[in-house]
Amino acid sequence: METVVVIVGAGPAGLATSVCLNQHSIPNVILEREDIYASLWKKRAYDRLKLHLAKSFCQLPFMPHGPDVPTFMPKDLFIDYLDAYVTRFNINPRYNRTVKFSTFDVSTNKWRVEAENTATGETEVYWSEFLVVATGENGDGNIPAVKGIDTFPGEIVHSSHYKSGHDFTGKNVLVVGGGNSGMEISFDLCNYEANTTILLRSPRHVLTKEAVHWGMSMLKYVPVTMVDALMKIMTAYSYGDLTKYGLSRPKQGPFASKLYTGKAPVIDVGTVQKICDGEIQVINGGIRSIQGKTLTFENGSKRDFDAIVFATGYKSSVCNWLKNYEYVMKKDGFPKAPMPMHWKGEKNLYCAGFARKGIAGASQDAVSVADDIKSILAAIKH
Ligand SMILES: Cc1cc2nc3c(=O)[nH]c(=O)nc-3n(C[C@H](O)[C@H](O)[C@H](O)COP(=O)(O)OP(=O)(O)OC[C@H]3O[C@@H](n4cnc5c(N)ncnc54)[C@H](O)[C@@H]3O)c2cc1C
Ligand SMILES: *[C@@H]1O[C@H](CO)[C@@H](O)[C@H](O)[C@H]1NC(C)=O
Ligand SMILES: *[C@@H]1O[C@H](CO)[C@@H](O)[C@H](O)[C@H]1NC(C)=O
Ligand SMILES: *[C@@H]1O[C@H](CO)[C@@H](O)[C@H](O)[C@H]1NC(C)=O
Repeated sequence: METVVVIVGAGPAGLATSVCLNQHSIPNVILEREDIYASLWKKRAYDRLKLHLAKSFCQLPFMPHGPDVPTFMPKDLFIDYLDAYVTRFNINPRYNRTVKFSTFDVSTNKWRVEAENTATGETEVYWSEFLVVATGENGDGNIPAVKGIDTFPGEIVHSSHYKSGHDFTGKNVLVVGGGNSGMEISFDLCNYEANTTILLRSPRHVLTKEAVHWGMSMLKYVPVTMVDALMKIMTAYSYGDLTKYGLSRPKQGPFASKLYTGKAPVIDVGTVQKICDGEIQVINGGIRSIQGKTLTFENGSKRDFDAIVFATGYKSSVCNWLKNYEYVMKKDGFPKAPMPMHWKGEKNLYCAGFARKGIAGASQDAVSVADDIKSILAAIKH
């Protein structure tokens, strides 16, 4: 079939882009591999997840959260919001469509998008003038290659498939990775009385969510170095020195790191207290090898585990299906143009939701992409 804009992915970024295009009366089609929109939130997020950012940073265009909504929304409330969004703006993605291949066709100057209809097994071909990549920064779970991992007899899960600590009660569990997911999953495991150990590779900033919220609000008014200096005082006050527990902080401040390297601070849900109380153990470094149940760490110590949760992040999967990714992305599946023009590529190719700025970033991208497409179409008409 032929349309003006094909959007790949029905997460918050794809939904918002479709709504913005509809506001300009620009025909568009969303292709989604799952049988539901916002599949990350509906299928791949752990039960106790609460939004890390305040609600004003977690809304989509044309539909702000009401005053009754709590500042830090639990996952289910955010899903209710997305349901209301999709209903209100009458968005109808084509589900069960996994985009396998996309190329820019030079003879027609159009994008050719091949999607597998997973319900029928057929391949469908879509042609469009514009293509918007909205498949998310969290495309595929990343599990690092570890020597001997295939000899491990217990369960190995990626954080995206972790639901709750319920199945791990009484087990020795290693959580690999000290980002938001790793820290929160450790907390959850510990609540379910799993003997929990967390493996931290590198120093991280850990902040309370109130501190992050306060810092993000301050950034509008004062320079980042000043916000970071205040953060340093606040964290010293609320946590003291955590290095003796294996938690060290990077030299660069939390908001400068986020700004210049994209590495977000970890938002503490109570994990730090459990680490200080000795309820969660910390190992620094990496895994050298695995032999059956026994893991050998980089410093030579050995421990036995029943299960491993890899909270080791995600890989963008764009370059697997987008053959001409170089018009907008680098090989790692992230935008090649620096912000704030990261969303615009060549040959009418765009991306939305790749600014490492969460839902707020996805919303901004959606508005920018739709406005740009509108102005290009207007220029052709005149
Ligand atoms: C555990 C967790 C917690 C988070 N918490 C927050 C938070 O509190 N606040 C915040 O702002 N952000 C948070 N984020 C970031 C969050 O991922 C984004 O803000 C938001 O979901 C991004 O939306 P998106 O549409 O860009 O990507 P996604 O939500 O990942 O949506 C992408 C969609 O594309 C589909 N897709 C992928 N590949 C294909 C293909 N080849 N063909 C067809 N469809 C495809 C997927 O199935 C998916 O439905 C969190 C992320 C994680 C993993
Ligand atoms: C998608 O596929 C699943 C099974 O593969 C099926 O149950 C569902 O009805 C399909 N949804 C749509 C909208 O086609
Ligand atoms: C808990 O796990 C640690 C490994 O990090 C291990 O040393 C300790 O013996 C375990 N405790 C029990 C009760 O199994
Ligand atoms: C290795 O690290 C662990 C946890 O950080 C520690 O308990 C152990 O003593 C260290 N072993 C050696 C040999 O340094």
